[in-house]
Amino acid sequence: MKHVLVIGGTGFVGSALACRLAGAGFALTLPSRRPERVRHLSVLPTVRLVQADVHDEAALARLMAGHEAVINLAGILHGDFERVHVALPGKIGRAARKADIARLIHVSALGAAADAPSLYLKSKAAGEAALRQAYPAATIFRPSVIFGRGDSFLSLFARLARLLPIVPLVSPEARFQPVWVEDVVSALAAALAQPESCGATYALCGPRQYTLKELVAYAARVSGHPRPIVGLPFALSILQAWLMEFLPNPPLTRDNVWSMEVPNVCPQGSTLPFGLEATPLEAIAPSYLAGH
Ligand SMILES: NC(=O)c1ccc[n+]([C@@H]2O[C@H](COP(=O)([O-])OP(=O)(O)OC[C@H]3O[C@@H](n4cnc5c(N)ncnc54)[C@H](OP(=O)(O)O)[C@@H]3O)[C@@H](O)[C@H]2O)c1
Repeated sequence: MKHVLVIGGTGFVGSALACRLAGAGFALTLPSRRPERVRHLSVLPTVRLVQADVHDEAALARLMAGHEAVINLAGILHGDFERVHVALPGKIGRAARKADIARLIHVSALGAAADAPSLYLKSKAAGEAALRQAYPAATIFRPSVIFGRGDSFLSLFARLARLLPIVPLVSPEARFQPVWVEDVVSALAAALAQPESCGATYALCGPRQYTLKELVAYAARVSGHPRPIVGLPFALSILQAWLMEFLPNPPLTRDNVWSMEVPNVCPQGSTLPFGLEATPLEAIAPSYLAGH
């Protein structure tokens, strides 16, 4: 298998995946709404960046021609969940069936469930269902929050700690089991090579669980800006998120707060599939947070 179409492949996970797969000799096509913003990927020798509207079914069919595998990483934290998380996976599944794509891999989110408390998690569950209905052999991954150089998670906390004397924190007791982006990439790459992963759904977690307050305190300390952290009660968390929704690209929404109402952790003892060993956050985060 050599030609892989990566939809949503220009973001945080996509960039790491493109580096890994290009290095392993795969030829990749990366559609983007604005390829000029991700020129750093075009320096990879076997990566082809193309401007395309992946929501257009005819465009999807053209993109898939000549590829043996498709990976879908398109996702958003706020905005039109129905379009990006539900309709798009359905379209990708149908197009992949028609184009006889041998492998389809989809990245959803840990906690995706029809009865989840947030629209984000509900839409991720509906997207999985739409994808499976169209292409039952798809392999689905559900990562917890993903960290690594370029993340918008620990790096955001480090930035906040640099700017604020005291960090007011929404959902301080929310639980996460952060997974390193390179471990996520390893799981995606392993699935490509393992036909027995067809039709399976895998959770992806790091080795340890943390509260959000512990993670923010850690990012603040390691980046050189230790700060007092004041956990906000639920009502104030919702109020802060609501105020942020007025910003053009809100760093937090009320839906994000509702997402954090369910622990974002794997069942006890489970981390990564395929015999992969999960990398501790403390082994990686200082390399990109120190001096942030
Ligand atoms: N990062 C995490 O902590 C985390 C945790 C759990 C699950 N996930 C899931 O993992 C996947 C990858 O996450 P990521 O962190 O790499 O995301 P990211 O950095 O925000 O990248 C998102 C990608 O989706 C594409 N995209 C965004 N809006 C789109 C739209 N309206 N139509 C079509 N494409 C659109 C972007 O492409 P262009 O802008 O180039 O068009 C980009 O390539 C997502 O499905 C996300 O939900 C991430």
